[in-house]
Amino acid sequence: MTTATTGTPTTRGSVGTPHTRVEGRDKVTGAARYAGEIPFAGLAHGWLVLSTVARGRVRAVETAPVLAMPGVLTVLHHENAPRVDSDFVGMLGSRPDPSVALFQNDRVPHLGWPVALVVAETPEQAREAAEALVVHYEQEPHDVAFFAGHPDAYPVEGHTPGVAEKGDLQAELAASAVVVDAEYTTPEEHHNPMEPHAAAARWDGGRLEVVDSNQGTTWVAGELAKLFSLDPDSVRVRSEHIGGGFGSKGVRAHQVGAVMAATVLQRPVRVVMTRRQMFTLAGYRSPTTQRLRLGADADGRLRALEHSCLNLTSTVHEFVEPGAAPARVMYDADAHHTANRVVRLDVPTPTWMRAPGEAPGSFALEAALDELAEKCGIDPIELRVRNEPERGPLSGLPFSSRNLLACFREGARRFGWADRDPRPGLRRDGRWLLGTGTAAASFPSGAGPSTAALTAEPDGTFTVRIAASDIGTGARTALTLIAADALDVAPERVRVRIGDSDFGPAMIAGGSMGTRSWAWAVQIAAGELRERLALGSGVPPEGITVRSDTSAAIGALARKERHSFGAQFAEVAVDVTTGEVRVRRMLGVFAAGRVVNPLTARSQFVGGMIWGISMALHEEAVRDGATGGHVGADLAGYHVATHADVPLIEADWIDDPDPDDPVGIKGVGEIGIVGAAAAIANAVWHATGVRHRNLPIRPDRVL
Ligand code: MOS
Repeated sequence: MTTATTGTPTTRGSVGTPHTRVEGRDKVTGAARYAGEIPFAGLAHGWLVLSTVARGRVRAVETAPVLAMPGVLTVLHHENAPRVDSDFVGMLGSRPDPSVALFQNDRVPHLGWPVALVVAETPEQAREAAEALVVHYEQEPHDVAFFAGHPDAYPVEGHTPGVAEKGDLQAELAASAVVVDAEYTTPEEHHNPMEPHAAAARWDGGRLEVVDSNQGTTWVAGELAKLFSLDPDSVRVRSEHIGGGFGSKGVRAHQVGAVMAATVLQRPVRVVMTRRQMFTLAGYRSPTTQRLRLGADADGRLRALEHSCLNLTSTVHEFVEPGAAPARVMYDADAHHTANRVVRLDVPTPTWMRAPGEAPGSFALEAALDELAEKCGIDPIELRVRNEPERGPLSGLPFSSRNLLACFREGARRFGWADRDPRPGLRRDGRWLLGTGTAAASFPSGAGPSTAALTAEPDGTFTVRIAASDIGTGARTALTLIAADALDVAPERVRVRIGDSDFGPAMIAGGSMGTRSWAWAVQIAAGELRERLALGSGVPPEGITVRSDTSAAIGALARKERHSFGAQFAEVAVDVTTGEVRVRRMLGVFAAGRVVNPLTARSQFVGGMIWGISMALHEEAVRDGATGGHVGADLAGYHVATHADVPLIEADWIDDPDPDDPVGIKGVGEIGIVGAAAAIANAVWHATGVRHRNLPIRPDRVL
């Protein structure tokens, strides 16, 4: 794939050199405003009321006493809320989770389901009234029990992300000299971005304007237009600064509630989720149970690979955590069977959470590889060398580039892997047992169609307008550097405006595809603008604006296996008296395309690896079968790695530009977490001689 600008020399060289965030000063001084704090004249405040039963029907909502409370303006519920249409397929090819079709019927499919919205003059009045609102339910028995071999589990339809098979599994297993057959589990995990979900909606001259915190303004605007049967051009969604998303910030109950209330009251209304509400309204990562069967010859070459992953979903929407997907890319085998299954329970619908599929799937797959290496008496890295595929194991497609082994070589050198004694349980430092482990990482590299506008201003500066989202990744800064190089000017002469659906269709910040997708559009626009400027007729007072659209270019991409790869290394210490596991150091080496801004890219990798520590040792949302809800739905009860848990972490990368991308980008957003938990679990085995196949590796499980 080539464009007019491919290969344009980037003489200024902003891309590839570290830059602090262009909005960094605004963020640390408080000048950057977030959706929950942007002022509106006449703003009213909505507070969501969530069901206290895990299954049943709403019999009655006692609105009268609450409507008499100070400041209360309205109470919306299933009998009086505006009707919405949730029967559509949105921009990303999926149907909306019915939990966003607020108050459309009396069904309660899980605990924490939105049943009413109380709107008042102040947030305090809304909250007090919401807590006083009495809702009567007709309760039904619920079932939230998730376990391996659930009788109601069914295979997901479709090749991806469902079932993919080649070869005779039983025959190859029978012919294998070494077999690993193990079951792994990962718990329910929650994103918990620092900034809770928040949206303010108002009608302004016949247009609906929503100020929100989301991962894609044109996406959210499109979904709201469909839900409320509005002309897409009459909906504007802005999302200038976002305090984290991780997959959770799409169309959710808060925006829909704000739009409903703003419509009913004809004044601006804001709805903010509480931290506790985020545990049922913001999506989460399904728990998984995974079975791995690996069969190999004595030299470690795989004959059979089976990876089946079971996850849960709600009774109202099918969401799949495709944990068996990474095996389709990582390793080949004569018999290769992967399957993702789901079971429907009375729980909220899960959603994308950073590295959906890859994060839990890589834990099981890469831990099983480590078990195979042990059984074969082969170094874990050498085992991966022997099983490196030439082409996509199931697709047969060539890899756009695959530098996994280069990552292992560089990582092994820097980590000091060559000196490692493979035998477990031998190294001691006082009461600590020490061990090291490694694992591979991969994540798909994709791009979504985007449009951009680029203006040459009469004062010699340039303005980029694109409906990109900077969810904390540094995307705004990356796009500034890309535009600067493509225009051959200093980054100080480029201003990048993002987070506004009026800028036109653009990919979301998701799937590690944001920066790549937007950069493509910016690069094309910059090339055309340079051609216009080269004609030399000068810049008129209104500037010169060119627009780009990458739909055709992305549609014409050759079919290849496109992925980023990486190698994770961890050293742990295990306290034999308390069972505490402490990570002492981690190293990740990635081949993830051209790195635009080393400063923020490193933060992305390191952030993912820290999340891997969290996943390996801390994170676990515990569901109580009796109530159907969580035990401790807050950041006290839900443990994440804190500073004291995070040791020296190094992330680096090797040169790996995508040959088919105009900027060479692959995407760095999610791969940092992939394989990280497996590297830690493998290190715990090396320290103790005990395999931990259930996450998190809590002290009580170690002892
Ligand atoms: Mo990401 S889980 O695609 O926001």
